[in-house]
Amino acid sequence: MLILKGKNVLITGAASGIGKALAECFAREGSNLFLGSHPREDDQLCRWADYLEHQYHIKTKKFPVDLALDSGPELLHKQVVQTGEGIDILVNNAGVMLYGGFAELPLDGQIEMISVNVIAYAKLMRLFLPDLMKRKSGRVLNVVSASAFQPSAHHAVYGATKAFVQSLSEAVGQEIKSSGIKICTLNPSYTDTPMLRGKGFPKKLWWFFISGLSSPEDIARKGVNAFKRGKLIYIPGFQNWFIHAVLTRVMPRRLMGYISYWVLKEKMESKASKATIK
Ligand SMILES: NC(=O)c1ccc[n+]([C@@H]2O[C@H](COP(=O)([O-])OP(=O)(O)OC[C@H]3O[C@@H](n4cnc5c(N)ncnc54)[C@H](OP(=O)(O)O)[C@@H]3O)[C@@H](O)[C@H]2O)c1
Repeated sequence: MLILKGKNVLITGAASGIGKALAECFAREGSNLFLGSHPREDDQLCRWADYLEHQYHIKTKKFPVDLALDSGPELLHKQVVQTGEGIDILVNNAGVMLYGGFAELPLDGQIEMISVNVIAYAKLMRLFLPDLMKRKSGRVLNVVSASAFQPSAHHAVYGATKAFVQSLSEAVGQEIKSSGIKICTLNPSYTDTPMLRGKGFPKKLWWFFISGLSSPEDIARKGVNAFKRGKLIYIPGFQNWFIHAVLTRVMPRRLMGYISYWVLKEKMESKASKATIK
C-alpha cells in the first residue's frame, strides 16, 4: 500500500470537479499539495488551498498556468522546479470537453481540447518523469475516462484524446517498469462536474439511464484508494468496469460504434430517468 503522508503531489485542474475532490483526498492522507489551475480560477484556487491547509494541516503551493498555451506545461514545470522541492506524484487531471458533431464544432475549440487533454498530459509526463526515475520513486496518476476504451460519438475528439492518453500511459508504464515508477489511470464514467454543464452538453444522455451519474467526491475517494493499492487501470463501478473493460473487448467494433452513437445521444425528458446534471 502506497503511503501518501508527506508526499508532494502536483494536481492540475485542482480548483474544480474531480481535481478539487482529488486534492481533498490527498490532503486527508497528509500529502503536501502543488495545486495547478487555469489563471481564471485563481480566486477559487486560493480559497480551496487555504481551506485544505487549515483543515488538514498540510502545505500547499499554487500554480495558475494556462495549459492550452504552447509553453503552458513547460512554464508549470519550471515554476515547480523553482520551488526547490521535487514532486513525488504527478496527477494529470485538467481537461476540457466539447459535445456535438465533429463536422460542426468549432475547429479552434477542438484544437484546444487536444492541447489540454493530450499535449499537456504528454508534456507534463515527459518533463517530470526523468526526475522521478532518477530518484527511483514516484507515480503518475492520469485522470482519463471510460471514453478511452471505445469511440465516443457526439464528442469524438474528446474520446480520441482520452484513448491517446490511455495508450500512452500503458505503453510508458511498461517502458519504465524497472525504474519502480508506476503510471496509473483513473477512468470514470460521467461525473457531475462543471465540465458537463458546459455549453452544448445535453441535460440528459441515454447513457445516464444505464449507468447514472457519479459525484466527483465518490470518484476521487475510490480513485485514490485504487491508486494507493497500485491499480494500473481503475474504472469506478462494477457496471462501468464490465461494459468498458469486458464488453468492449468482445463486441465487434462496428456494433460498439453503433451502440455508442445511440447511448451518447441526448435523451428527452422522462420520469423514468432520475440522473440529471444539476
Ligand atoms: N465529468 C466527467 O463526466 C468526466 C468523466 C471522465 C473523466 N473526466 C475527466 O476528469 C478530468 C477533470 O474533469 P472534471 O469533470 O472535474 O471537469 P471540471 O470541473 O471542468 O475540471 C477541469 C479542470 O481543468 C481546468 N482546465 C481546463 N482548461 C485548462 C487549461 N487550459 N489550463 C489549465 N487548467 C485548465 C478547468 O479550469 P476551468 O474551470 O477554468 O475551465 C478545471 O479546473 C478531465 O480530464 C476530464 O476529462 C471527467
